[in-house]
Amino acid sequence: MYRDTPHPIHRRDYRPPEFLIDHVELRFDLDPDRTRVEASLEVRRNPAATRGDGTLRLHGEQLDLEEVAIDGHRLAPAEYRVEPDSLTLQRVPDRFRLDTRVRIHPNLNTALEGLYQSGDMLCTQCEAEGFRRITYFLDRPDVMARYRTTLIADKGRFPVLLSNGNRVEERELVDGRHLVSWEDPFPKPSYLFALIAGDLSAIEDRFTTASGRDVVLQIFVEPHNLDRCDHAMQSLKKAMRWDEERFGREYDLDVYMIVAVSHFNMGAMENKGLNVFNDKFVLARADTATDEDFQGIEGVIAHEYFHNWSGNRITCRDWFQLSLKEGFTVYRDQEFSADVGSRGVKRVADVRLLQAHQFPEDSSPMAHPVRPDSYFEINNFYTATVYNKGAELVRMQATLLGPELFRKATDLYFTRHDGQAVTTDDFVRCMEDVSGRDLMQFRRWYSQAGTPHLHIEAAYDAERATYSLLIRQAIAPTPGEPDKDPLHLPLAIALLDPQGRELALRLEGEPNAGEPGTRILELRDWETRLCFVDVPVRPVPSLLRGFSAPVQPRFDYGDDDLLLLLRHDSDGYSRWNAARILMQRVLSTMIADPEAEVPGRFVEAFRGALTDPETDKALLAEVLTLPSESFLGDQMETVDVDGIHRARNTLREILGERLVEELLSVYRDNADVERYAPTPDAIGRRALKNLALGYLMAAGDARALTLCRAQFAGAGNMTDAIAALRLLVDHGGEDGTSALEAFHRRWSKEPLVIDKWFSVQATSSRAGTLGIVTGLLQHPDFSLRNPNRVRSLVGAFCTANPARFHARDGGGYRFLADRVLELDPLNPQIAARLLKALIRWRRYDAGRQALMRTEIERILAAEELSSDTFEVASKALE
Ligand code: ARG
Ligand code: ZN
Repeated sequence: MYRDTPHPIHRRDYRPPEFLIDHVELRFDLDPDRTRVEASLEVRRNPAATRGDGTLRLHGEQLDLEEVAIDGHRLAPAEYRVEPDSLTLQRVPDRFRLDTRVRIHPNLNTALEGLYQSGDMLCTQCEAEGFRRITYFLDRPDVMARYRTTLIADKGRFPVLLSNGNRVEERELVDGRHLVSWEDPFPKPSYLFALIAGDLSAIEDRFTTASGRDVVLQIFVEPHNLDRCDHAMQSLKKAMRWDEERFGREYDLDVYMIVAVSHFNMGAMENKGLNVFNDKFVLARADTATDEDFQGIEGVIAHEYFHNWSGNRITCRDWFQLSLKEGFTVYRDQEFSADVGSRGVKRVADVRLLQAHQFPEDSSPMAHPVRPDSYFEINNFYTATVYNKGAELVRMQATLLGPELFRKATDLYFTRHDGQAVTTDDFVRCMEDVSGRDLMQFRRWYSQAGTPHLHIEAAYDAERATYSLLIRQAIAPTPGEPDKDPLHLPLAIALLDPQGRELALRLEGEPNAGEPGTRILELRDWETRLCFVDVPVRPVPSLLRGFSAPVQPRFDYGDDDLLLLLRHDSDGYSRWNAARILMQRVLSTMIADPEAEVPGRFVEAFRGALTDPETDKALLAEVLTLPSESFLGDQMETVDVDGIHRARNTLREILGERLVEELLSVYRDNADVERYAPTPDAIGRRALKNLALGYLMAAGDARALTLCRAQFAGAGNMTDAIAALRLLVDHGGEDGTSALEAFHRRWSKEPLVIDKWFSVQATSSRAGTLGIVTGLLQHPDFSLRNPNRVRSLVGAFCTANPARFHARDGGGYRFLADRVLELDPLNPQIAARLLKALIRWRRYDAGRQALMRTEIERILAAEELSSDTFEVASKALE
């Protein structure tokens, strides 16, 4: 905890470590109250570093130091210095063994970093800098060591003792205690260390790698959860096979373990051979988990598995390079999900996520490059920019190189840097070396923050049969970066004729026309002029196909052009985008004028799409979903909270009324009674059906209410149950109350389902929601100590209920600030993350601005504040 201003860490200050640690031997005497940790480190000078004066400063926080010895000689307290964050030894030899013994207190660890207690088990989270809460160490990713870990604990309470690598010893001790030792043959940075102690059961499977090695796969959970691990196991096996086929990557240990824990700050963690997961991303059964949960599990299981190569075998030199592993691994998990599911739908979902989280971040006071230049607290930089924009940068490189060269480049990356801690620059260099291309300008994507706008103008010359484009880039200043440089990016484009067919494209100066289809143009300058020749008719451009670059395109489409794209474009992103521009147009008219009519042709287009038998149902559900209130706000000069909410509700109601028959038949046609399966087709049908039910309920149709009640009462899966519950709660009255009661009664023993029960109430658009959410803080099931629970109530209210969170009287803001202040001493990471809901305060009207500012100032004025929360609050006001 800091009161005096924490100091920022700068990327330019990176120096190679003066000392290296080759081998670590750890011995844990585990007990939730007080655990003893003995560490034996083989330390030597780093020949590659400039020679200093022989001072070794090890990281360490919240450790009770009991003993230090060098080469077996115990040091007197005068021979070392202990500070709150370090242990310093002067004039150490060039090579020596350092032994330390410390005590730590897992059950007092509410920050969930380092070794902590979750329910009855003990577990660890070391990324980014949690290992220093376990023992004194050079806790930085460029120090890679081999680990041997011995765990000792009471056998009755902790029959299962796990750590990284292979189990090498196991024996009984006196007093009902036992000992298990693990050895990890691969050198790793300390952030990949993990241990687990608990009374756990496992499902087990096997996997034979491409080269014929046999791997044991285990998923450890509390015994009562054993019946909901199948989906995670299937996902793991799919991911292992896919990585062999698509990237040529094989698994490298004899055992791969996953453990589900109920208290976890993030999604999951890729510790070598021993992934630790937020149980939300492991446990699924048709009746307890939604389609979204099933897809989330598949994606996150794959993501952590893929880290074994993109992250563990090759790691980051320093935390500024975080996107090296995260951006690349997100790209890999996106591609995996696209291959095993439906590619077009997956791309739309990823773009929607990027626009909902990364674009806003990129225009906020916390805007930062994919490779940041400085931070106060690295945990604040596990962001949509580092993860999702980072993935887009990898995707653009794949597009620029094409599939064959890109695969060659990743092969080179994996062989050239195996066992090393490297930089995003090293990654790009592999792309260059393999392709012979110069990506110097492309590297700006890593160092420059902000979302580029692409302003595109077109002119058709019927006489000369030419179609010319003028494309201008513009990038608004971001904090600390007043001037921007133009970026190198791939713009995928097609031209459609009035029947929606793709034209063959030929640029001025080219000898002949190519095949009809997509063309990748490369932009490099602030302004690019292009001219297509032999264009027989005025075309409709299909721009930024597949969302080929993370930019905001602006093109002045006529409504007819958009209707044509919506009907005919073969590119899923482009169709979805056309629908969204149309919806946004209608909605902005309605926001400006509450009396505005909804144009008939818009309703007809919607009807056309709704009844289109050709299109993938999941894509249709995406296309027919109105843009979110937050997205609409992002498009406005000043967010009109109430106008957006009103207009969106009105449009839902009008569409529900005018299309009632079509919506009812879509509902009926897709209301399966078959056994639940999370297949892309079934997921799409449920999404479309529940979307239809939502429009019908918005219109207040009596038949809809009957259907909704029946769906809630009879649902055979959580997707349908929760969709109906949400609609009933929004409908209100006795229907909402009794459904909530029934739901709680049925699922009271299932924490992940109770999270949903909290979320549904927190995101209800009903007027009294803040009062209900405040009341729920006192509910016996609520706890500030469980991050999933905090996210399900407080997080959901503050980030997914804009109309209520941004209530004009500032009640939502006060509620959030109160929670941040309560949480900060307990769990700084979660507190800081919640606070991000306030940082875009300048986007609102003067009244709301003042209210939000007051709350941020109140937080900054607190007696003690973590560096996490301090960084977000102070940057918000800069
Ligand atoms: N490396 C993990 C993942 O993305 C994220 C862990 C981050 N944890 C944290 N406390 N910052 O798979
Ligand atoms: Zn990751």
